[in-house]
Amino acid sequence: MVASELEDWPGVLHREGRTLCRLSRDPSESGPGPAAKGQGAVFHNPAMSGNRTRSVLLLQHCIEAGLLGEGAIYALDGLSASGLRARRWLNELPAQSAARISATMGDMDPVALEWAMRCHEEFPPEHGEGELLPHLGDLRKSVLEHGRHWVDIDPYGSPLPFLDTAIQSLAKRGVAEISATDSAALTGSSKSALLRRYGARVRTDGLAHDSGLRVLLATVARTAARHERAIEPLLSVWESHHLRVSVRVRRSVEKANEVEESLGWRVASPTVEEVSSSIQAGMHPDTELDSLPMHCMLPLTHPIDRSDKRVSGPMWIGSLGQSDAMASMTEERALGICGPSDVEDDPVGWSDRDFERERRRVARSVRHISGEAEVIDAPHLILVDDLASWLGSGSPPSPSGMVTALCETGSRAAVAHYGKPAFRTDAPWVEIARAALNLQPPI
Ligand SMILES: C[S@@+](CC[C@H](N)C(=O)[O-])C[C@H]1O[C@@H](n2cnc3c(N)ncnc32)[C@H](O)[C@@H]1O
Repeated sequence: MVASELEDWPGVLHREGRTLCRLSRDPSESGPGPAAKGQGAVFHNPAMSGNRTRSVLLLQHCIEAGLLGEGAIYALDGLSASGLRARRWLNELPAQSAARISATMGDMDPVALEWAMRCHEEFPPEHGEGELLPHLGDLRKSVLEHGRHWVDIDPYGSPLPFLDTAIQSLAKRGVAEISATDSAALTGSSKSALLRRYGARVRTDGLAHDSGLRVLLATVARTAARHERAIEPLLSVWESHHLRVSVRVRRSVEKANEVEESLGWRVASPTVEEVSSSIQAGMHPDTELDSLPMHCMLPLTHPIDRSDKRVSGPMWIGSLGQSDAMASMTEERALGICGPSDVEDDPVGWSDRDFERERRRVARSVRHISGEAEVIDAPHLILVDDLASWLGSGSPPSPSGMVTALCETGSRAAVAHYGKPAFRTDAPWVEIARAALNLQPPI
């Protein structure tokens, strides 16, 4: 394709993180969210910038932690659109890491790929390291043409059509990052779509997005098991309109056989019997049963009345992330790797305030993640608003106040990276209720 044929080129110069690109329209003029059809040749959603920042950081962590071996890393940005994700991997990772990466941007839209490659040619990685290749075609076919260590799927809507082949394409040890924008289905608002696609039900309460992440993980785990692989979640995030899970995938028939041990149910307003079963199954901290928790988890083997509206699942009941991976995602490190430095006579025309705004956006994308690392396996995710209503205790306590109070009792607790004020803890329910009541201001 020659320059004159590329509709809208050269478009508008834009920066995300530390990476320059050209977009067919100015993202600041249309507000957050994806472009509507006809608004520009190439899809770009500024609301996914945090998603892309975390992708850069997770890749760097996995390289440093040796999870991707010692040699070349074959990475696929499977549905690449503007190609900004793969270009950010190469440009923002330190030279030593980028030098190991052979990244492919895959899309079935030739204009998108042409656009992405032109951006790459105009703004190659600052350190000059790493390889970037375009691949035109339907991902469901092309993904199997090459083994990969890293596969990213970021589709319109559900990732399900791409899951089977993406998992099969992974090397013996690899990482899959999977976004889903069909959050109405995954969080239970579109019940029939949820049942049809994911074979699950989700109660539309405050934990619906956590349940949605777990339903997605259960689907990924079952898909991996079909291909004699097992998953280990590294990071699971709900942000505005999308859910995203990043998992380590390893070939192991033995572990694949055990997949159902990591699946189960979440029950709202559980009975004494259900909480006892959860405690016996090691899924709930031992607690006195005269005051009952808002939720508990039960194993897949527990007899469930599928018409019971309190029940969500089947879902992943294991940890939603890996402590080391999450602990690496500090705001300081995010700024060090992805934060842009002020540029004099900036070609994008950014002022010092614009640079500061982007640095704040980068920091915000990982807020609370490293703190939550130590407690990501904990059984309780508690929304403070729900807690106050459940206890009938008036105004909700602050998440950080609850965390301090629970840590003082010797439990683990941290503020959650969740779209509503919340904390995670392994404290017994009685301690949680006591701490919340103690934090009430005197009348
Ligand atoms: C949501 S956009 C991807 C956004 C991108 N990952 C980012 O971070 O900006 C989805 C892209 O998938 C492409 N696409 C849709 N179905 C596809 C398929 N079956 N195979 C390959 N590409 C496909 C579309 O052309 C579009 O560019």
